[in-house]
Amino acid sequence: GETITVQELAEKLKKTAAEVIKKLLGLGILATINQEVDFDTATLIASEFGIETELKVAVDKEAMIMAEPEDDPAQMVIRPPVVTIMGHVDHGKTSLLDAIRETNVTAGEAGGITQHIGAYQVEHNGKKITFVDTPGHAAFTAMRARGAKITDIAILVVAADDGVMPQTVEAINHAKAADVPIIVAINKIDKPTANPEKVKQELTHHDLVVEDWGGDVIAVPVSAKARIGLENLLEMILLVAEVHELKANPNRPARGTVIEAELDKGRGPVATVLVQNGTLHVGDTIVAGHVMGRVRAMIDDKGRRVKKALPSTPVEILGLSDVPEAGDIMVAVEDEKLAREVAEKRKQRKKEEALKASAKISLDDLFKHI
Ligand code: GTP
Ligand code: MG
Repeated sequence: GETITVQELAEKLKKTAAEVIKKLLGLGILATINQEVDFDTATLIASEFGIETELKVAVDKEAMIMAEPEDDPAQMVIRPPVVTIMGHVDHGKTSLLDAIRETNVTAGEAGGITQHIGAYQVEHNGKKITFVDTPGHAAFTAMRARGAKITDIAILVVAADDGVMPQTVEAINHAKAADVPIIVAINKIDKPTANPEKVKQELTHHDLVVEDWGGDVIAVPVSAKARIGLENLLEMILLVAEVHELKANPNRPARGTVIEAELDKGRGPVATVLVQNGTLHVGDTIVAGHVMGRVRAMIDDKGRRVKKALPSTPVEILGLSDVPEAGDIMVAVEDEKLAREVAEKRKQRKKEEALKASAKISLDDLFKHI
């Protein structure tokens, strides 16, 4: 189970450690200042002091499941980069994702693509890259607002016949705010009207100076349609990933982010989760936002059933009690009771907030009509 040290408990209760130790002694527990006590004991001690802790403890429990224990550097291993494709409408984000995926499949991976789960992994020269399909900047912003950082590298797609457009600038700003390195993919170079040099020049107005203009931003000319430059783009992604030494610890409970989720008619709640640290196993108890569950089955991006998912792997998860929201942080929790309590508490809070919001709206409506 989960525990708290005597020292931490004393701080939370605004008592001295000596006072807490004394109360513990009264309960027949001989404890030192650094000793860990379980939450039932902690609650008991709090009530001994006459402190109402139900809510406080609930909040603490939430903090407990969300806490990120420090990883032992010796356990850290290189993980694949997680890449997001951004850019102006119609500049070829989806085409590029599809082209990369298809190229990769025809390059010899066993098993065809059977479904689209909003994220997938490709392999290039024996190294994996994870692509996350952000349906729009709104989703990216929502994830960021929730503190979910999923992207290691942003691919900025700019159509060579259209140049830098408003949503290109938006994407640049998002990536910069999130402190994510940008690789520019100058797309549609197969078009006779393509003008890659003009794109490069326009980018300089937004502090993106590409290498052949003396800057340090990598720009790759590509054509999603004619399949030009795709290998080069993958090469550059791996290069940037190597520079950033992306690592994770596979030997700990999983932690990740919900990419998308829906209620499937036959399968129930289904969530696509990107595992970011640790390893997720079938059978694990998880909490994602206000939803808890036990992982009944996992399906990878190739439609295969898998028993475990390593860091930077996107998987579909079955077995949740409800549908979480995109951007929700998912954690594997060893203590099922704790998982249930936290999810329940969040659900309640969500309900209260929704009630408050609708009450506010009706009040506003009321005043509007007066
Ligand atoms: P939204 O999701 O609507 O923002 O668009 P998108 O950025 O995903 O663009 P999408 O991949 O849907 O491509 C838009 C159009 O550009 C389609 O008609 C594609 O066929 C075309 N297109 C994409 N890439 C290329 C390319 O490399 N060359 C040419 N000639 N056309 C392309
Ligand atoms: Mg698209």
